[in-house]
Amino acid sequence: MKIKGFLKDVGGASRVTKARLNAFSSASAIPEKVDPIGDVAREWHPGTLDLEVVKISDASPTAKTVRFQKVGGGKLPPFYAGQFISLAFVLDGKVLCRPYSISSAPFEARQDPGFVEITVRRSKGDGLICDYINNDLKIGDRVKGSMGLGQFYYEPLRDAKNLVALAGGIGVTPFVSMAKEIKHGTMDANLTILYGSAASNDIILKDTLDALECDRVHVVHVLSGDEPDWKGERGFLSAELIRKYTKGDTTYFICGPQVMYKFLREEVKKLDAPARRIRFEMFGQTKDVASFPGYPAEKKDETFTLTVMRGVHKDEIPARANESLVVACERAGIVLLTDCRSGECGFCRTKVLKGEYFVSPEGDGRRAADRDFNYVHACATFPLSDMTIKIPIE
Ligand code: FES
Repeated sequence: MKIKGFLKDVGGASRVTKARLNAFSSASAIPEKVDPIGDVAREWHPGTLDLEVVKISDASPTAKTVRFQKVGGGKLPPFYAGQFISLAFVLDGKVLCRPYSISSAPFEARQDPGFVEITVRRSKGDGLICDYINNDLKIGDRVKGSMGLGQFYYEPLRDAKNLVALAGGIGVTPFVSMAKEIKHGTMDANLTILYGSAASNDIILKDTLDALECDRVHVVHVLSGDEPDWKGERGFLSAELIRKYTKGDTTYFICGPQVMYKFLREEVKKLDAPARRIRFEMFGQTKDVASFPGYPAEKKDETFTLTVMRGVHKDEIPARANESLVVACERAGIVLLTDCRSGECGFCRTKVLKGEYFVSPEGDGRRAADRDFNYVHACATFPLSDMTIKIPIE
């Protein structure tokens, strides 16, 4: 049998083998330092970032905008306008993670040095970190953060190009990021922001919003309070008002406090828009869990014992029925890392070994397998009896 080119192939292979052996024997034992692909991957997916506060400014009489840069400078990783950042603060030796919608634009993060901003309103007495940011955080302070989180952003393959943003209170921040990106020319969409506030001096980032008005960005302020001199829209973000500012195929983005969220859930049903055109961002952790259908109201004021297993450690701590497992752990100084704190991302996924619990229907991001094997998202899970959970060792 004659195999065409056989000797040529064998000769060629032996020459290649010899060349490779020569290259190996003459190569340096020290690994190559040049790793362009790895450098790009590390820049775009850095994991945890070390951030430093470089600027703090007033966003309204009750809110502040805080600007962070990477310690040592440089660009920040890319993200989509509308996403959030998770920041870890250390207070009294306890690590407390909180998610904040990013109010700066993606293009501002990609400058050198790039920056990222959050806008945070002072709480009404129930927001430890909100008040810390407003009252105590100062320039030069450092925090750890991870960014580019969440699904609340414009996706041209999925969404209509006309966007109507329904915002309430501090929920305007992701839309400020979108508006900046559109005005900068790096996001191809038309945005109308219907922004509900209780009073005119309660409008957050008013000057910024005014400056963002352009042919593709419109801001409509809607006041629910009674101010005789107010010239803009009044009342709430009703279906009728939303219809007035909707033109053609539209995707609705909704972000605001939970009370507004519940109201708008009913109003947007009246718009006859397909479900894929309505995007909700749950803002922060579930409040008033007892108001959800199916919650056993008689339990709401009880306090149970939560046993937390971490490797060989075992802690027994009090857990109030109206607070999530994450909050109970934080209160006791037990670190349970979180990102979204609204049940969406699964970062706080926790195994339940024993006990009954209630999962907020608005924050039930569990996979089917998690339900079957008794895993919960601890930030959206509330105890209904004494419980035992197993959490990762930090
Ligand atoms: S922190 Fe995202 S699900 Fe709990």
